[in-house]
Amino acid sequence: MTHLDDRFEHHSDKPDGVSAEVATTDEVRIRTPSKICGMGHRMKRKEDPRFIQGQGRYVDDVVLPGMLYLDIVRSPYAHAKIKSIDASEALATPGVVAVITGKDLEAAGGLHWMPTLMSDTQMVLPTEKVVYYAQEVAAVVATSRYAAADGIEKVFVDYEPLDPVVDPFEAMKDETIVRDDKEKKTNHIWHWEAGDKTATDQVFGDAAQVVRQKMYIPRIHVASIETCGMVAHMDKVTGKLLVYMTSQAPHAHRTVFALVSGLPEQKIQVISPDIGGGFGGKVPVYPGYVCTIVASIVTCKPIKWIEDRSENLQADSFARDYHIDAEMALDAGGKITGLRVETLSDCGAADAAANPSKFPAGMYSICTGSYDIQAAHVAVDGVYTTKPPGGVAYRCSFRVTEAVHMIERMASIAAHERGEDPADFRLRNFIRSDQFPYRSPTGWQYDSGNYKAALQKAMDMIGYHELRREQAEKRAKVELMGIGISSFTEVVGAGPSKDYDILGIKMFDSAEIRIHPTGKAIARFGTKSQGQGHETTYAQILAEELGLPAEDIQVEEGDTDTAPYGLGTYASRSTPTAGAAGAMAARKIKAKAKKIAAHLLEVGEDDLEWNVDRFQVKGAPDKSKTIQDIAFAAYTNHPQGMEAGLEAVDYYDPPNLTFPFGSYIAVVDIDAGTGEVKVRRFVAIDDCGNIINPMIVEGQIHGGLTQGLAPALFEEIVYDENGQNLTGTLADYLVPTAVESPKWETGHTVTPSPHHPLGAKGVGESPTVGAPPAIANAVVDALWHLGVRHLDIPITPEKVWAALRGARA
Ligand code: CDP
Repeated sequence: MTHLDDRFEHHSDKPDGVSAEVATTDEVRIRTPSKICGMGHRMKRKEDPRFIQGQGRYVDDVVLPGMLYLDIVRSPYAHAKIKSIDASEALATPGVVAVITGKDLEAAGGLHWMPTLMSDTQMVLPTEKVVYYAQEVAAVVATSRYAAADGIEKVFVDYEPLDPVVDPFEAMKDETIVRDDKEKKTNHIWHWEAGDKTATDQVFGDAAQVVRQKMYIPRIHVASIETCGMVAHMDKVTGKLLVYMTSQAPHAHRTVFALVSGLPEQKIQVISPDIGGGFGGKVPVYPGYVCTIVASIVTCKPIKWIEDRSENLQADSFARDYHIDAEMALDAGGKITGLRVETLSDCGAADAAANPSKFPAGMYSICTGSYDIQAAHVAVDGVYTTKPPGGVAYRCSFRVTEAVHMIERMASIAAHERGEDPADFRLRNFIRSDQFPYRSPTGWQYDSGNYKAALQKAMDMIGYHELRREQAEKRAKVELMGIGISSFTEVVGAGPSKDYDILGIKMFDSAEIRIHPTGKAIARFGTKSQGQGHETTYAQILAEELGLPAEDIQVEEGDTDTAPYGLGTYASRSTPTAGAAGAMAARKIKAKAKKIAAHLLEVGEDDLEWNVDRFQVKGAPDKSKTIQDIAFAAYTNHPQGMEAGLEAVDYYDPPNLTFPFGSYIAVVDIDAGTGEVKVRRFVAIDDCGNIINPMIVEGQIHGGLTQGLAPALFEEIVYDENGQNLTGTLADYLVPTAVESPKWETGHTVTPSPHHPLGAKGVGESPTVGAPPAIANAVVDALWHLGVRHLDIPITPEKVWAALRGARA
């Protein structure tokens, strides 16, 4: 058994972060008094006073003198040749200053194409043809937002419609080629595999039972309160480009802008101010950003571009869109022995996913989930269609949501096929707590876990066995009630630099801490909060490490001129990477502080020990120097020969990813007359290792559960046969509100990560990943006895009603 305090002092630097078994508790550990407010305290969010007073500063709040406004002409076709663009009437419209077309960008040095984060190419503005509905075709710059909107009405584009390619399976036949700009005339983009095919086929050959299910995880869309936008200002005097943008990764975006535009990187400042939700949708570079920067360079004026809601829903990066064919092999005792998965990934018109470079299907190969499976093989093919590009990790670690949905549906289907309780099936097949660190058959090294404890706690909390009795009674009365479980394993914290990069930039993250003479501090991080509360939790991490009150630590992110270089916030990577960097930078400061304390107390460093907020002489605790005393001395009375000041920077390269997990149980009632599904209860037990702020974690879980309910029952982007988006407004794209959300019941277990300096794992996306299969499993659990084996999400009343009608027929 590893003791946590040992890990605090001796952070493992083994390459794969292996450690001994880690104990699970229900306790959130608190080591600091409330005046310091280190880890474990339910500190109120430092950022909230400005938000609740309406004083947040979002991109659309930025107003610069002489600012112009940009609006975008969009394609009414999913696939069409552009014969000509006539901007003369637009240019004659009052207030219109300029119209930018693809030809203009081409003439400006080939700026009409840009690289995607997956090293594919994507049109900024087209010169030959459009490849998705609502694609950006031209940009209009005007003196007001209204004049720009008038201007786009007057840009006349002559299109010659081409056949759309809507169905990805049809796309694979290559009858119509989406990307004829490419040398290879095929819609097939890539093939990717993980696991051992031979061993898996062998296991399937020996299986007592094989369970097979096809399922579709539909295309959905991030629906952040704030859409995407930018204010760009090229200052012709200083030659510096100042960019305010909705960016989850400001440093990476600055580098991309420098590489694409040829501007020197020190002359580009990206500021990501307050962000109203990101969820992965603010990771890619969109054509609107590039047009805004070009417009500023051309006009030497500040330019503002803010998408409207329909533009956001219709043209920005989508998420999911995986067509899955899964098979599970079982032995006679109901032990899972093998998993075989084939998947078609509809990438739209460009592979513009935000995955780490080496992983075209992200972390999808985590698909063996929480189960100890002998052999597995997973294959994924990416294909172009005439739909908007993307494949963002919507509150998800690069396709883990799809993986979890598949394995959790398969576990429940297998249990039902065996006539067994899905809880018993899971308990038998879980990776045991003494098997960690656990090497999965697709090559992941799970750091720590205790899946049985989490499921047991969820079952106790919801009263599982009583609910099963109630269900039997209801069934006798022909009432439809279902109980669904999801026991998921997550994979977050990308990532170790040997395997993880985006466009070649390694996925480390960073922190820089500077303590002022009066013992107050400023700390800057390479990540960027979009509502997660980093200003609070990072301060708590530093308070824990340094004994400075969290109130005295100012946390800043999102300004590339001041923050150290980092890869940003998405995929629950902030705690595993930048949070760890904060702890490591604090430890560098503490090492120097110890030398200063030894100097002040006139003892050797070995005579000192740390106690919450001070170094004290061993055996004589009254002889001590607080961190504030030491900070003052660092500028006024430090040892001769030592550099003044008390500051440090750390670029943290995590030794492994972290593997948070949880067990969720949903109870649903179904109206047999209408097919409406009501989530009556939902218990979520999460384990994200050591918790920094339990209140913030609960908030993350609540929000994420609602975003998990969304695709389970409501959200889907639908296209008609012409590739037209039928769900381009919030009247058609059903985002759940508090009215549709049940009362979420949350709890936790604590199984520290053995390799993270604080024993913490990420948490932000766990609920979005874990909730959909729990709800889907509950619905099928209610209907299985009627012969319903699977329903694709979103499980709408129409789908339930059709299934019931099929059952009655
Ligand atoms: O990258 P992102 O901030 O979205 O995800 P995260 O690392 O999962 O953190 C989300 C929020 O929960 C942050 O404010 C974290 O500091 C907090 N958190 C926590 O308090 N304890 C944990 N073990 C993990 C996250």
